[in-house]
Amino acid sequence: MVNSILKCPVCGNEYDINRVKYTCDNCGNILDVIHPDMEYSLTKMKGVWKYKNMIHPAINQNDIITKMEGDTNLYRSSRISEFTGIKNISLKHEGENPTGSFKDRGMTVAVSEANRLKYKKTLCASTGNTSAAAASYSAFAGIESYVMIPEKNVSANKLFQAIAYGAKIVNIEGDFDNAMKSVKDVVSHSNNFYLLNSLNPWRIEGQKTIIYEIMEKESPDFISFPAGNLGNTSAFGKALMDLKSLGIINKIPRLVAIQAEGASPFYNYIKNKAENIIPVHAETVASAIKIGNPVNFKKARRAIEFTDGIVEKVSDDEILKSKVEIDRAGIGCEPASAAAVAGIKKLKDNGIIDKSDNVVSILTGNILKDVSIIPPYKELKLSEIL
Ligand code: F0G
Repeated sequence: MVNSILKCPVCGNEYDINRVKYTCDNCGNILDVIHPDMEYSLTKMKGVWKYKNMIHPAINQNDIITKMEGDTNLYRSSRISEFTGIKNISLKHEGENPTGSFKDRGMTVAVSEANRLKYKKTLCASTGNTSAAAASYSAFAGIESYVMIPEKNVSANKLFQAIAYGAKIVNIEGDFDNAMKSVKDVVSHSNNFYLLNSLNPWRIEGQKTIIYEIMEKESPDFISFPAGNLGNTSAFGKALMDLKSLGIINKIPRLVAIQAEGASPFYNYIKNKAENIIPVHAETVASAIKIGNPVNFKKARRAIEFTDGIVEKVSDDEILKSKVEIDRAGIGCEPASAAAVAGIKKLKDNGIIDKSDNVVSILTGNILKDVSIIPPYKELKLSEIL
């Protein structure tokens, strides 16, 4: 049995996994989970936990809290090929997870860890999806969940999920970045709450499985996804590092992280090769990625560097146009997710991606996650269709 450790990706300090730590005592950077002597051997479990040996080899089966998340579908559509100009594009639908977003993959691992460590309370800040997943998985584990929601910045549908699953809602004035600051303050003063944001390195372990699943089915040149707090960017880079170091893949797909124009501090950070991220006041129609001060920027930079990745930004108009195409293709997604496809179209139009490239775009959330934006439509009278 492999004993995982927590390790600082910057200074290399190591910590036992039974010490609950999110950041390094020495340099303050966010920790990684490392599994020495990791093996690519699959279990008989379904979805995320099929990859138990790559994400949490040591956890006791009885401590696992799962709702059979993962194992989502890849869709091809001539409409999306036509829209993006890419023949070989497929969409991986993370909206098919139990609470309707990719967050369930990280949450099953982090809440299992909360359960293993016998926590009674969990805590997170959220633009909506994290809180829905945290509330559901915590309730399923019999743990009380507290979610910090930025006032007026969360879709009613996502807030509904957190309330319905019984979370205690803490309303925070301002935006997600204020809420994130508040949860960090709380966990620095109290050991009673287990933090479920992507600062928690176990979340990242679960989210790696999106890439494992893609690489079992496809050999993409590019993998695109919307980027906000940069948990996914970090997780995807780590997953590809795993697969490369274990000799499972030779060719490394280029990660394509797409930000909304009004919330693109990571785009600026990479473009300017800056030492530190410069926070912005975030504004975008895609509320899930309305984040101006992403916490995972260092791990995310590592992912972009390792994969020769690309960070692009798209306008709200491009996001909404792309959403209409995805919805009308019969696939459907929430607004933020559509940024993944909008970004591919932009990179194809600019000659960076070729029509013959193999592309996978990740749709991070379900169409029902945010019904505040309804495209114009005409109601017909019965007599008009006869
Ligand atoms: N897409 C959706 C639908 C999201 O909910 C999020 C993040 C992202 C993309 C961005 O992913 O943060 O890993 O870069 N939502 C978080 C939340 C922040 O609180 O639900 P990221």
